[in-house]
Amino acid sequence: MTANSIFKNHNVLITGGTGSFGQAFARKLLQEDMCNKVIIFSRDEWKQWQMRQSDPLFNHPKIRYFLGDVRDAKRLARAFNEVHTVVHAAALKQVPAAEYNPSEFINTNVLGAMNVIDAAIDCKVERVISLSTDKAVNPVNLYGATKLCSDKLFVAGNSYVGARGFPRLSVVRYGNVSGSRGSIVPLWRKMLQEGATHLPITDARMTRFWITIDQAVDFVVKCFIEMRGGEIFVPKIPSIRIEELAKALSPNTPHEYCGIREGEKLHELMISVEDARHSLEMDDHYIILPEAFTSDQIKRRKFLDGRTGKPLVEGFAYTSDTNSEWLNIETLRQLIEE
Ligand SMILES: NC(=O)c1ccc[n+]([C@@H]2O[C@H](COP(=O)([O-])OP(=O)(O)OC[C@H]3O[C@@H](n4cnc5c(N)ncnc54)[C@H](OP(=O)(O)O)[C@@H]3O)[C@@H](O)[C@H]2O)c1
Repeated sequence: MTANSIFKNHNVLITGGTGSFGQAFARKLLQEDMCNKVIIFSRDEWKQWQMRQSDPLFNHPKIRYFLGDVRDAKRLARAFNEVHTVVHAAALKQVPAAEYNPSEFINTNVLGAMNVIDAAIDCKVERVISLSTDKAVNPVNLYGATKLCSDKLFVAGNSYVGARGFPRLSVVRYGNVSGSRGSIVPLWRKMLQEGATHLPITDARMTRFWITIDQAVDFVVKCFIEMRGGEIFVPKIPSIRIEELAKALSPNTPHEYCGIREGEKLHELMISVEDARHSLEMDDHYIILPEAFTSDQIKRRKFLDGRTGKPLVEGFAYTSDTNSEWLNIETLRQLIEE
């Protein structure tokens, strides 16, 4: 299976299809004519209308716009009719909003994930990938906690598919997406346009994992090819220092340190020491295997299905501050310009 053939003749549905990831994924599918139909599933008719207006590609004869809420199981079942592939990108994701509206985040990110899994099983979808975040690892905020629950639901969901063997359900976890909705660069840019004399920085020591939207899309396509169901895929991506990101955007603007926000970490974690015990290192990514498969060699062999990877050394953790790969200010400047 290759990137060109993986979705051939498939109807591909993207929950959260009007979001930063959803639009980029839809663009790739349509530009490269990779599938039969692209279905954008989201709540807000206005965002769907804006998406249509933003690019003639989003009026392509192969695209459909479906209004619906992942909290609504019946609506999902209707949307998943004759769908082969689902990317679950719908989520609420603003950390401070989660702290003040926990039940809303639980309803969308946890119960919504359950509904997506149930509808995928009932409608005989073949493959589902759910997007996760580094904030789901040892979470310190409610957003991360809801994404951890969602990840667990997707991994466990593979136990409910029965002898049929599908849908395969897997997770892709990565860090900050440069330029995505609500991210720091657009916010700083707006502040500068409005005449800010200082850029606010939480802490000079802060580091983050960094991925571009195109890299995220390509990695998800790759994982659709590789998935057997139950993996949490983690790409090897560089880290950045937030302070250097600010310098890359505006070298001469002084910084104002405002302290770590409620629910934020100084450094992010993509694979914890505990997860590393049941993870494998591949060429350009890691796979966290379902814990249940690690002690049962027969299940593990069946799951790996010929794939070989390196076990991680005891004590390994994939963290943004101890990462071996970093983006320097010059590269960051180029990325921001792009
Ligand atoms: N951006 C990042 O830096 C980043 C990093 C790691 C992981 N992720 C994960 O990647 C995924 C996509 O993120 P993104 O940046 O594309 O987010 P985004 O730009 O905020 O888009 C979220 C999408 O979800 C839809 N949505 C929200 N609630 C919904 C509901 N109840 N039912 C149906 N649709 C709903 C939104 O449309 P409506 O509001 O119209 O429904 C929108 O289309 C999320 O799971 C996020 O956790 C993001």
